[in-house]
Amino acid sequence: MKCGGVVVLLLGLLSVGRTAPPINCDALLKPINISNEQMLGRWLYIGGSSDLPGSRSLGHLLNSIWLDIRATSLSNVLTIFQTQRIYGECSGMIYNVTMENSTMLIERPFYLKEVYLQTNCSDCLVVYEEVKSNQDAFRSLLLFSRQQSISPADVEMLKMQAKCLQMPSPLMMDPSYEICPDNVATSDGLAAFNSLLEAKMGQRVARLLDKLFDIFIN
Ligand SMILES: *[C@@H]1O[C@H](CO)[C@@H](O)[C@H](O)[C@H]1NC(C)=O
Ligand SMILES: *[C@@H]1O[C@H](CO)[C@@H](O)[C@H](O)[C@H]1NC(C)=O
Ligand SMILES: *[C@@H]1O[C@H](CO)[C@@H](O)[C@H](O)[C@H]1NC(C)=O
Ligand SMILES: *[C@@H]1O[C@H](CO)[C@@H](O)[C@H](O)[C@H]1NC(C)=O
Repeated sequence: MKCGGVVVLLLGLLSVGRTAPPINCDALLKPINISNEQMLGRWLYIGGSSDLPGSRSLGHLLNSIWLDIRATSLSNVLTIFQTQRIYGECSGMIYNVTMENSTMLIERPFYLKEVYLQTNCSDCLVVYEEVKSNQDAFRSLLLFSRQQSISPADVEMLKMQAKCLQMPSPLMMDPSYEICPDNVATSDGLAAFNSLLEAKMGQRVARLLDKLFDIFIN
């Protein structure tokens, strides 16, 4: 018994020893504690990965996203103003989330849960998000920062986290992107996102688009 254990252990060491140094996925994926105050203010989207159909095509067309997270009169409710520039066009949306015990939740009209992961970048927010809509479940890993660009080492860490989650390698935004102005009109963000999630036929088209974009753009 003991001998078998040693052999397995050695084989394990050999197989990781030949490639890169071992990645400690447990540590990289362990949610961090974050206060609601630390969430507040403006965050620029830097890059990420998602298995949400259409997200990679959208990623290639996306010029920028920023969030402005604001407190409300309720201590566990935050309001998110989100503005994005997609193919040169700015649009905005606004939605409320609950934030408790370092976890963000949206329960209606779909279920969304976010926890925050370790990063070596002091003014970054690494988000691990799960979305459930009817029978479907999707995961995303997203990196936001207070700055418009971050160090290559910090991007590497995000890539390792994506690898640990067995997700496609993150698509990073062009750091010279143009962001949208503050005064973009906002619409109800959750309703828009929900109709996207419910477009079942749309999902197949979106998956196909994702593949095409990855083939032709990368
Ligand atoms: C996070 O907060 C929880 C509950 O407040 C606490 O039990 C835990 O030790 C904290 N973890 C870290 C890494 O600080
Ligand atoms: C968000 O919640 C606050 C506090 O309950 C409320 O005043 C505000 O109208 C809500 N905003 C949206 C967009 O639902
Ligand atoms: C947050 O943590 C507190 C104390 O541990 C617990 O009473 C509460 O139910 C938790 N809330 C959520 C939404 O998990
Ligand atoms: C993050 O920083 C710590 C401490 O400086 C370092 O040991 C670790 O290798 C860094 N992680 C990555 C993935 O760069």
